[in-house]
Amino acid sequence: MTVNLVHTRANADIAISNDVRVTPLREIQPGLLLKFECDNPGGSHKVRAARYIVRSAVENGDIVPGQTTVIEKTGGNFGFGLTLACQAYGVPVELAVGLGFSAVKRRCLELYGARLIGLDMLERGATPREVVQWHLEHEAENERSYFYTDQFRNPASVAAHEFETGPEIAAQLKAWPLVERLTFVSCAGTGASLIGIAKALTLAGYSVTVVLVEPKGCDSRNGIFSDHKLEGMSVGVVPPFLDWDLISEIRTVSHDEVLNTRKSFARTSGFLVGNTAAACLTVASSLARDATADHKILSVFYDHGLWYVR
Ligand SMILES: Cc1ncc(COP(=O)(O)O)c(C=O)c1O
Repeated sequence: MTVNLVHTRANADIAISNDVRVTPLREIQPGLLLKFECDNPGGSHKVRAARYIVRSAVENGDIVPGQTTVIEKTGGNFGFGLTLACQAYGVPVELAVGLGFSAVKRRCLELYGARLIGLDMLERGATPREVVQWHLEHEAENERSYFYTDQFRNPASVAAHEFETGPEIAAQLKAWPLVERLTFVSCAGTGASLIGIAKALTLAGYSVTVVLVEPKGCDSRNGIFSDHKLEGMSVGVVPPFLDWDLISEIRTVSHDEVLNTRKSFARTSGFLVGNTAAACLTVASSLARDATADHKILSVFYDHGLWYVR
């Protein structure tokens, strides 16, 4: 009896943690608005794309709970979101996670309920993409029926931000009724959050200027990538969803600048944000000096900083 009660309570908690929640929008310095996506279940904005992809796939029959296993390659944040989103439907998740990502993240993914696949292949030098490919090719003999979420090609990645995050920010902006213009400072991995949010805010009637932030040495538009440590942004492929006509300016930041911003923001605000958040904050906070009552700077805190403390 006691065991049953504990079990029921645990399931209820999972259902609650998978609800759509509004993350805070805070004016962290005069003129600078930050969307705290790090406060999502799963710890980042990626839960939104994951939830949207899974929900659409269940609705159109690509995922059949009880039959389908979801498979993806991920560095972490999308994997947390995916595992959480699938748990709501009782759908198992298998993830190929590159060995370069933190061991803590890998352990936590398992703790959330994901099965990490292809360790032996990764140790022999295969890429996570090759691990996924191998599993897709051998699904019958391994008694699986896979659905590959393919976040870099799945249009539901953008829809999540166009129809959820963006409108949520627009509704929250009503607390600043004088605002008409926004400078949106963002980075891009897939580019889904940048495009989805920019589109939704434009549709809501704001005049939106987009500033793309990249690590020094990267030029995503031309497929040039340095070996940087800002996990999640400028990830080695041209962001598939970016519409370059929407980008007004590109600013680069050095690793040292990002670490300094992260440290000083933690000391002054108490929030230890992730590296991509700190990269955007570096640029956004300097732009905020020119903000006015009708023109604010907007950026996103994508995830928390604890993952990246070494
Ligand atoms: C920490 C972090 N920041 C930024 C991004 C970029 O987000 P998007 O894929 O929406 O461009 C990601 C993507 O995985 C991320 O994990």
